[in-house]
Amino acid sequence: MSNIQRLRDFIIATTKVVGENSAEEAAFAVAPLLADLVAQDDWLPEDFRVPHPDYYRQYLLHADPLERFSVVSFVWGPGQTTPIHDHRVWGLVGILHGAELSTDYRRGSDGSLIASEEERLLPGQVVALSPEDRDIHSIRNAFEDQVSISIHVYGGNIGAVKRAVFDAASGQEKPFVSGYSNDHVPNLWDRSAEVRQALQA
Ligand SMILES: [Fe+2]
Repeated sequence: MSNIQRLRDFIIATTKVVGENSAEEAAFAVAPLLADLVAQDDWLPEDFRVPHPDYYRQYLLHADPLERFSVVSFVWGPGQTTPIHDHRVWGLVGILHGAELSTDYRRGSDGSLIASEEERLLPGQVVALSPEDRDIHSIRNAFEDQVSISIHVYGGNIGAVKRAVFDAASGQEKPFVSGYSNDHVPNLWDRSAEVRQALQA
């Protein structure tokens, strides 16, 4: 059974933080909450950890009703990778299972994109992105023979944000709206078991 209350508690805490802080401050304040969430891999329901044979999956776990943030489960099959892309809102990446390789890009004088050294991200690790810093990147599964999963938090409804994918050699960008892989989200709100238990106490 999954300990879905960990996700519920994270969403409650993040909703408070986002309501009380500016976007820049919210990203800093949510980072330790996400680190707590990905410290244990016992809460993500099975439906949201299923890989696709050809493409990485992005399962929406929660979108704030005011679209101030969203929480997404990224599931990478063996060897799968994102295109080079940007976000245009703040973002946090927390590794839940497996390992991922992250590459940042900066513009060269000829307009091409220059890759940083690949960074290996391990379970429990959280990295931050912002429109000003590390906004253009790519991520891939570090493994050729197993699934990796990361939990991402963004400062908007990321599946509906107008952003871009890039060609590294020319630096040319193409419009990109990612959408989501799922049409239902986890039920976080069935708290009946704990209420019944309290009745019996
Ligand atoms: Fe990204």
